[in-house]
Amino acid sequence: MTTVRVVVAGAVFHEGRLLAARRSAPPELAGRWELPGGKLEPGESAPEALVRELREELGIEAEPVDRIAGEWPLKPGYVLQVWTARLLEGEPRPLEDHDELRWLAPENVGEVDWLEQDRPAVAEAAARLRAG
Ligand code: CDP
Repeated sequence: MTTVRVVVAGAVFHEGRLLAARRSAPPELAGRWELPGGKLEPGESAPEALVRELREELGIEAEPVDRIAGEWPLKPGYVLQVWTARLLEGEPRPLEDHDELRWLAPENVGEVDWLEQDRPAVAEAAARLRAG
């Protein structure tokens, strides 16, 4: 039996905007934009992993709110799940894995070059932001 590992990413909302993060590594992904997140560790739930990853990578405290329906394939053996999250505390800084961050208004989410696999969730996140 093969176990599929989950990568969880956050559509972090604050003041009507969505947080986008530009990857600095690995070389094949550097320069592309993503919803920040990472792999679940053994025993972790997706929301727990998301809280940890956002703390480690961006130095923020965030609260997962809702899962965005869907699951997107990554490299073999990995799938991406996305949750919306609310910024609770801190100003995001690119501490690990990223070299630039941007808060995008919903009408501006198309301005950055998102990783393909993130695009459906980004579109849904922008629609939720527009709906208020
Ligand atoms: O930090 P950790 O090693 O746990 O995970 P990561 O390197 O940030 O992400 C693991 C894999 O998921 C990488 O191949 C990323 O490209 C992919 N990923 C993605 O496609 N979209 C995201 N929003 C986050 C990660």
